[in-house]
Amino acid sequence: MTILQIKSSLFSTGGQSSQLADEYVARQVAADPDAEVIVRDLALNPVPHLTAERFQSFLAKPEARTPAQQEVAAFSDALIAELRAADTIVIGLPMYNFGVPSTLKAYFDHVARAGETFRYTEKGPLGLLTGKRAIVFATRGGVYAGTPLDTETEYLKTFLGFLGITDVEFVYAEGLARGDAIKQVSLASARIASQRLDLAQRADAVAMH
Ligand SMILES: Cc1cc2nc3c(=O)[nH]c(=O)nc-3n(C[C@H](O)[C@H](O)[C@H](O)COP(=O)(O)O)c2cc1C
Repeated sequence: MTILQIKSSLFSTGGQSSQLADEYVARQVAADPDAEVIVRDLALNPVPHLTAERFQSFLAKPEARTPAQQEVAAFSDALIAELRAADTIVIGLPMYNFGVPSTLKAYFDHVARAGETFRYTEKGPLGLLTGKRAIVFATRGGVYAGTPLDTETEYLKTFLGFLGITDVEFVYAEGLARGDAIKQVSLASARIASQRLDLAQRADAVAMH
């Protein structure tokens, strides 16, 4: 099993979303020591904003790319190769200023590539990254899940679904800025929800055998 862990907290490993995701990943590795973990830390190695020049590199035919365009395309290819290799994608997802971290948006802009991760068909776009599972650890200072102010859940489901990743689970830790008591309860219940995913996974594995 290969796990791709995407960290998008600006605090890198110190972020609450990173820590919840780290704990989840550590449990998967403990259960399957052969599991391979790829970490893409967007705070330590930010993906640049998509510009017209960078986008043009994706559109240019490989043999017609300039050396600069080859570099941009190779960078995007490497990000996509990590996604292709992954059976499970674990995403740490803070909320910053009412949306997803801009580093994650820049990453998404570099992996949504026609002909590589999706293609257009007569029936609309078709995601090419099928057979994968995503687990999202969403951390927030306020409380928004299930309300119109949750700008992240539907966006992530839509974006990942566009790439063909339709099996997506969310674990929320909300109210983290509402005092220490609420923060601790919220983190504890997120940890329980995370462990429940392990149990559900094991039950699925037993059912398939
Ligand atoms: C720059 C910044 C902007 C934030 N904006 C919001 C926000 O709009 N809504 C919210 O509920 N929490 C907001 N928060 C609180 C974070 O969502 C919360 O601290 C969460 O734990 C961040 O995840 P992280 O610890 O993994 O970085 C913000 C925090 C920072 C640092």
